[in-house]
Amino acid sequence: MKAIIFNEFGSSSVLHEGEVPTPVAAKGEILIRVSHTSVNPVDWKIREGFLKTMFPHIFPISPGWDAAGVVESVGEGVTSFKRGDEVYAYARLPEVHSGTYAQFIALPEAAVSLKPKTLSSATSAGVPMVALTAYQVVHNVAKVAQGEQVLITGGAGGVGSYAIQLSNLLGGIVTSTTSTKNREYVSELGAKCIVDYTEASATSALQGAAPDGYDVIIDTVGGEALTEAVAFIKPGGRVVSVVDTPKGGTFHFVYASGQELTAIATLFDAGSLRAPETTVRSIREAAAAQDENRTRRIRGKVVLAVDL
Ligand SMILES: NC(=O)c1ccc[n+]([C@@H]2O[C@H](COP(=O)([O-])OP(=O)(O)OC[C@H]3O[C@@H](n4cnc5c(N)ncnc54)[C@H](OP(=O)(O)O)[C@@H]3O)[C@@H](O)[C@H]2O)c1
Repeated sequence: MKAIIFNEFGSSSVLHEGEVPTPVAAKGEILIRVSHTSVNPVDWKIREGFLKTMFPHIFPISPGWDAAGVVESVGEGVTSFKRGDEVYAYARLPEVHSGTYAQFIALPEAAVSLKPKTLSSATSAGVPMVALTAYQVVHNVAKVAQGEQVLITGGAGGVGSYAIQLSNLLGGIVTSTTSTKNREYVSELGAKCIVDYTEASATSALQGAAPDGYDVIIDTVGGEALTEAVAFIKPGGRVVSVVDTPKGGTFHFVYASGQELTAIATLFDAGSLRAPETTVRSIREAAAAQDENRTRRIRGKVVLAVDL
């Protein structure tokens, strides 16, 4: 099959089109013909070697941990899916080797879900990694509850946009940080209070939004943004970051869950969740798309059509 691959760590110039063996659906696995994948910060972090001590890496590597597409075949024992089903998945495997910037991916049945009926395949491809991350943090780790003050850093990003909506659905009162150009966007996602981190008054605005402090802080930015936010946690409050390990808080790394992706699909189909702005590009533009993502200024999701 054709895939976008790289044979050494480096800049986006290491990415190129290549031929790799087509995977097969082993026992308990599903082979997906990938129609779209999406660009996540982890794609360029892996390409630059930042995660090489975290997971085994085997070259050539095809990047990509998001997939939407159609079931091509199912392995022995698979009962929940059949050929032709429209699915989506968070496609992290134990080894960094076969990603979703490729025509096919084989994944465990438990990692896959039917895609939301109300979203196109392209929009669905931008959902799994960021929405699952936000879902697990909001529901399972921070356990946001009715009436709690929730601070979310980076509301305009992929994870942040879902963290705002999912916290709202659980009755949280959300404050989110953003730059000036994204204020309206983040407000439309459901943040009750917007703190423009480019303004000199940002620190006092963070305090003013929740004078007694925040019950929950969900951080999608890390670094100084996290350090500054942590100062406003209530005694006994919960701080969860998906970027750094916070002082007195928890770092969460997203895990695959077809079951949780189905819960997310149900929220989309009920009209309770909306996808962030989605831009579709050809996978042949993967290098430029990763470079853009690396600027950390992208709003919403960039999806790549696997048109190899
Ligand atoms: N641990 C995990 O399992 C996990 C899972 C997914 C992602 N992540 C990590 O989480 C981070 C966010 O991922 P993502 O996919 O949401 O990224 P993303 O979509 O690329 O986020 C970009 C957004 O971040 C905002 N931003 C940048 N600097 C900011 C700051 N100082 N304060 C507030 N907002 C800021 C930008 O908005 P403005 O232009 O308005 O600043 C931009 O819209 C990445 O580091 C990623 O690697 C971790």
